Amino acid sequence: MVAVTGGARGIGAAIGAEVVRRGASVALGDLDAAGAEAAAAKLGERAAGFGLDVTDSASFSSFLDAAEARFGPLDVLVNNAGIMWVGRFDEEPEAVALKQFDVNLHGVLRGMKLAAARMRVRGRGHVVNVASSASKIAPPGEATYCASKHAVYGYSVAVREELRGSGVDVSVVMPVVVETELAAGTSAGRGRSLQPADVAKAVADAIERPRFDVFVPRPVGAFVRALALLPDRARVRLARFAVPNQVQDTDFAARRGYEAERVGR
Ligand SMILES: NC(=O)c1ccc[n+]([C@@H]2O[C@H](COP(=O)([O-])OP(=O)(O)OC[C@H]3O[C@@H](n4cnc5c(N)ncnc54)[C@H](O)[C@@H]3O)[C@@H](O)[C@H]2O)c1
Repeated sequence: MVAVTGGARGIGAAIGAEVVRRGASVALGDLDAAGAEAAAAKLGERAAGFGLDVTDSASFSSFLDAAEARFGPLDVLVNNAGIMWVGRFDEEPEAVALKQFDVNLHGVLRGMKLAAARMRVRGRGHVVNVASSASKIAPPGEATYCASKHAVYGYSVAVREELRGSGVDVSVVMPVVVETELAAGTSAGRGRSLQPADVAKAVADAIERPRFDVFVPRPVGAFVRALALLPDRARVRLARFAVPNQVQDTDFAARRGYEAERVGR
């Protein structure tokens, strides 16, 4: 069974649809329980939706219990729930910064601990963390979001080593801009934005053949590696050319509804 956090909409719902299409059962957990149930209802018998708050360990544990009671042992946990605030770093309310870390980073930590405990006793399992290309590059206007996603990457590297030999795999998925509510009004810069199904396919492929670094689209991995090799001045020049500046390029009016509903101000 595959459990997906943040499964009511966007990338999480698309991952649910793709893994069911490939023959797995899926439990979709979301703060929006009705949304998770509605997303699961579209997928038939092998999907179910549950309420879940990844900022609360007891809620996370109950979600995994309910998912296992329904579909059997947890084979894969996809830590996908996430939120993003966009704007100048010095205009971000502190509560918003703390909340992004609580959901985007600590939500993943909680999930990894709870899933690893269940998977280790069976000697198998896979935790897939949906981070972001912002784990490796840092668009202006997304400072705290980037910091939380960089942290997910570092945490995943360390935990992967701690789990080596246990039978539990770890992957980090790093998509560029995807057309979901979270990305409303943001710019894809010179790149093309993705659809949730593009990320879902990459996640399902990584579940079938585990890889650690999963860039979506794949060539972004080469760009990131090239960037890391450059001296600072050249790196900044290339990043300014290729990476969108979300302070300048975002349509903030288009983000108001999303941020009011899912991030808070
Ligand atoms: N959209 C993009 O451009 C993009 C790019 C790279 C990575 N990502 C990452 O992909 C993941 C999914 O994002 P999305 O674009 O589908 O966003 P989305 O806003 O469409 O969906 C996110 C879901 O997470 C849920 N959620 C939020 N807080 C939660 C909590 N505390 N507990 C449980 N569920 C919670 C929301 O209710 C929502 O249903 C996030 O981790 C995001 O950072 C998104």
